[in-house]
Amino acid sequence: MTSIAGRSDASLRAELLHDVAWGLSRAQKELPPKYFYDRRGSELFDEITRLPEYYLTRTERALLDCWSTPVMVALRPRALVELGAGSADKTRLLLDAMVYAGSGEVYVPIDVSAEFLDDAAARLREEYPTLGIEPVVGDIADPLDLGPDLPRPALIGFLGSTIGNFDAAEARALLENVARAMRPDDRFLLGADLRKNPAVIEAAYNDAQGVTAEFNLNVLRVLNRDLGASFDPSKFEHRAFYDRTLHRIEMHLVSTDDQRVSIPGVGEVAFAGGESIRTEISCKYDRASLDCMLGDAGLVIERWITDSAQTYALVVATLARDGGIDA
Ligand code: SAH
Ligand code: AVI
Repeated sequence: MTSIAGRSDASLRAELLHDVAWGLSRAQKELPPKYFYDRRGSELFDEITRLPEYYLTRTERALLDCWSTPVMVALRPRALVELGAGSADKTRLLLDAMVYAGSGEVYVPIDVSAEFLDDAAARLREEYPTLGIEPVVGDIADPLDLGPDLPRPALIGFLGSTIGNFDAAEARALLENVARAMRPDDRFLLGADLRKNPAVIEAAYNDAQGVTAEFNLNVLRVLNRDLGASFDPSKFEHRAFYDRTLHRIEMHLVSTDDQRVSIPGVGEVAFAGGESIRTEISCKYDRASLDCMLGDAGLVIERWITDSAQTYALVVATLARDGGIDA
C-alpha cells in the first residue's frame, strides 16, 4: 500500500476502506481517481500521455517549451513545488528554465504514487546536480504545508489538467489550500484543458489501443490487492463520455452482468448488469470558468498562455491584492 509521509499504513487503509464503502454505497457508485495510481497505474498514465489521441500532454509540453524560459526569467523562483508531479517529464522544461534563470535551488514534487515518485526523484538528482530534489509523498487535497525553510519566492505548479479530476467543491478547497500556502511574491502555475469539439475530447479518453481502458480497470486491481476484494476485471468495461452541460468527461466501469463482489471490511457489493462505477471526472475549462474558479480561491490570473487553436491553457496566478481568501 502507498505510504504517505507521517501516515501509518493503518490510517491509509482506513481511508481507502472509508472511500470505497462510501463511494460504492451511492446511487451512482463512484471511486476517487487517486486510487488509479499505484506503480502500474502511473506507468499506464505515462503510456496514455504518448497516445496520438491524448492531445493534452503534447499541447502542454509545446506551451512549456515556448514559455518556460520567459516565465522563469520573469519570476526567478528559488523553489518549484509541483502538485501531482508523476514522472515530472514535462517539468524538466521548467527545471531547465529555472536553472537558466539562475534562481533555482529546490524542486519539491508532491505525489500520492510513492514508488513512482521515488524513481522520478532519483533520475532528477542525476540530471540536476545543482538542485535540491525533495520529493514528498502526500495527498494534494490535504492542506499544503510548504514549511518555514522553503526558499522563496516559490512557484507552485499544477500541470497536466489534474485540477479537472476534482469536482467544483474539491477544486475550490485545493486552490484555497494553495492560496493559503502562498506569499505575495509566490506564483501558481496551472495547466488546464480547454473546452473544444466533444469528439476530440472523447477520442482522447477512448484510445484505439485500449490503454485508457487498462488504466481505468487498474483501480479494481488496486482494490483486489490492497483490500483483498474479489473484482473480476474481465466483468467490467471501460466507458468514457463527454457531458456537454457539465463540461466534463466522465469515466466509468460498467458491469457486464449481474454480479456480487466481496470487499473485506466493506461487505458484499451488488452490481446489476449495465450498472457503473464512476471512476473519474475530467473537467474542461474556458477563460471565464478559470477566472471564476481561481477568483473564488483568492487568486487572480496574471498571465494567460494558450496555443493558437485554444486547446489548452497555462495560467500564471497570483494572490489577489486584497490578500486572498483570509482577508
Ligand atoms: N503532472 C503529470 C502527471 C499527471 S497524472 C503530468 O502532467 O503528466 C496525475 C498525477 O497526480 C499522478 O502522478 C497521480 O499519482 C497524482 N495524483 C492524483 N491524485 C492525487 C492526490 N489526491 N494527491 C497526490 N497526488 C495525486
Ligand atoms: C491526470 N488527469 C489529468 C488525466 C485526465 O486527462 O483527466 C487522467 C486520465 N484519465 C484518462 N486518461 C487520462
